[in-house]
Amino acid sequence: MSKSPKVWFLAPEVAPFAKTGGLADVAGALPCALKKLGVDVRVGLPFYGMVRDGNFPVRKVVEGLEVPLGDRILQGDVLETATNEGVPVYLFDRKGFFDRDNLYGTPDGDYPDNLERFAYFSRAALLFAKKAGFHFDVVHCHDWQTGLMPAYLKTLYSTDPFFSRVASVFTIHNMGYQGLFPADNLSISGLPASEFHPEGVEYWGNISLLKAGILYADATTTVSPTYSQEIQTPEFGMGMDAILRKRSADLYGILNGVDYNAWDPATDPHLAAHYGPGDMGGKRSCKHDLVNETGLDQRLMARPLFAMISRLAAQKGCDLLVQIAEDVLRLDAGLVILGAGENKYQQALVELGQKYSGNMAVRIGFDESLAHRIMAGADMLLVPSMYEPCGLTQIYALKYGTVPIVRATGGLDDTIEQFDPDSGTGTGFKFVDYDANAFLRQIKEALRIYDSKGAWAQVVKNGMRADFSWAESAREYVLLYEKVRQRYQSKITRGV
Ligand code: ADP
Ligand code: GLC
Repeated sequence: MSKSPKVWFLAPEVAPFAKTGGLADVAGALPCALKKLGVDVRVGLPFYGMVRDGNFPVRKVVEGLEVPLGDRILQGDVLETATNEGVPVYLFDRKGFFDRDNLYGTPDGDYPDNLERFAYFSRAALLFAKKAGFHFDVVHCHDWQTGLMPAYLKTLYSTDPFFSRVASVFTIHNMGYQGLFPADNLSISGLPASEFHPEGVEYWGNISLLKAGILYADATTTVSPTYSQEIQTPEFGMGMDAILRKRSADLYGILNGVDYNAWDPATDPHLAAHYGPGDMGGKRSCKHDLVNETGLDQRLMARPLFAMISRLAAQKGCDLLVQIAEDVLRLDAGLVILGAGENKYQQALVELGQKYSGNMAVRIGFDESLAHRIMAGADMLLVPSMYEPCGLTQIYALKYGTVPIVRATGGLDDTIEQFDPDSGTGTGFKFVDYDANAFLRQIKEALRIYDSKGAWAQVVKNGMRADFSWAESAREYVLLYEKVRQRYQSKITRGV
């Protein structure tokens, strides 16, 4: 077969340009890993206010791109920038759509015009590639915001020679966000009414963009092998398990990697001191720095410091965190929380932080730099998720010598191995039942190991030596791109 596939990589958030969670980290790092493997990859995302405020060097490459939306033709601009590794990044601007305070909505709810915004982005991305003559073989799109792209390729553009041999890969980062809109908005999506049925975009009387991505893409992936199995069961499928089982032959679980250029305590520019497995002195300085920055009691320098860095949503096990917080403090340990999200969790945590100031520090908000300092300064990271497609913070924690205590679900189960003091193997602590007592038992087990210094040094070292860099997973994506492209290549050779 011919050279590496050309990939048009479309995501609703891409680090460092715009980020609300792990998808941005993945969409920032995977294209760079693909480029290293020789793939011609270009990235597209909306030109949000957050991107504009980042002051990245940009240049306008298209003015007044015409994009049909419902019965209107909208115009928007396309700007170009690049990642540090030289991957081209295209930013889709449209007056009134993306220049807002947030990406998808406010704490009170989603923006009411999200269907317009992301249908526009999806269609503009395809039309721009055609206008710019970017002859891509595969569109790789992510989460519900881009779910219409595979559907457009299979319907609106299936007979357009520019698109007719383009294959699509759709990656699910979270089944909990399904892109649901009322059925009478179908015309905004631009899809023909004939696609509104249970084998198409219809989902319990609504339109679901997540379902569109799953059903119309040539292959669907998710971000860990375990989650790819879990979502085919009613417990984790969020109502779409039957659809996923039906597509199981084209469903792949490819574990996320992490970007050690951005997350390595030996080079991290956010830290007060640097360190690595051979020289841990800097970690103590980072703990000291964090204790000072968060106003915690100096006494905690001699006691374990637990941390959590997370969206504050039910998915992340915030209920368990609130339930066990006081028990952890009673064990003479400290707690640092950085998070933003649902009001009820924010309030409960802030109240605890006020009651136990000195022992528990709570920071509400999104603070990339502080996230790095917590990762380095804490002794243990808590990730008690109800479900977790992959999870990245536990993988970052390993590299920072911050031992993860996780619930054995999804990617958490795939990336963390229970520490066994007898053999000295393992990288963290895991509990199975979604239950505060089960969580607390593993916290106590971690504390027991922490107090027996030799074993603690071993679990820390095991984690720091683990390698979750992107290279291997990026190769799996390239194999998948080749596979889906082949279907269309054979179409050519058969003269279809
Ligand atoms: P998810 O994508 O479900 O939120 P992940 O573990 O995959 O979970 O990724 C979360 C990413 O977002 C990590 O890079 C983490 O450091 C970051 N993050 C989460 N909450 C915050 C916050 N309040 N401030 C800064 N970074 C955060
Ligand atoms: C989602 C998931 C998280 C995953 C991230 C990146 O936000 O909740 O588990 O790590 O996407 O794939």
